[in-house]
Amino acid sequence: MTLVILIFSYLLGAVPFGLVLVRAAGLGDIRTMGSGNIGATNVLRTGRKDLAFATLLLDSGKGAIAVLLAGMLSSFDARVMAVAGAAAFVGHCFPVYLGFKGGKGVATFLGTLLALNIKVALVAGGVWLAVAAVTRYSSLSALLAAALTPFLFLVFGQWAFFAASVVMTALIFLRHRENILRLMDGTETKIGKGPRDDA
Ligand code: G3P
Repeated sequence: MTLVILIFSYLLGAVPFGLVLVRAAGLGDIRTMGSGNIGATNVLRTGRKDLAFATLLLDSGKGAIAVLLAGMLSSFDARVMAVAGAAAFVGHCFPVYLGFKGGKGVATFLGTLLALNIKVALVAGGVWLAVAAVTRYSSLSALLAAALTPFLFLVFGQWAFFAASVVMTALIFLRHRENILRLMDGTETKIGKGPRDDA
């Protein structure tokens, strides 16, 4: 049963909502625009706030649904829920439908947090919002919020969630390699701006 839950979580997480929505709106392939990422931040660079918001909602929703479904099917076994969330997250980053070339996982990570521990999600979301308000960098906001998350699960003594969040945070940093380089040399694009707007 656990294996079925994991496979389902992965396949759900692998659905690239940003790509689907932008294509359905007749705007083309999001992978050829802006940063090339399939996430909400890059969808916002198309100028369509509604599509970006829907991407954020659906990408986080799939993480939350994977965790909640796993919980319902496992009598809310923390280990099964944690691994299901991580599986959905891995699905988003390495989707079978896109030749395993997917997104950076931030919204899906937030969705898993919402279902695993709402207080952790609120603190991490608050950190994202505060850093974004000050710096206007989506990537930096995500990196700082993700870095804090494992410590929050430690405070709550939730060891399975802690372990899953360490894996997801490490992957978020790996997936943001190029953003980190751009942040360091001052060429990272700010929220809502196209790459050329910052040049
Ligand atoms: O959530 C993704 C964000 O952290 C960075 O996105 O498109 O600026 O690389 P992007």
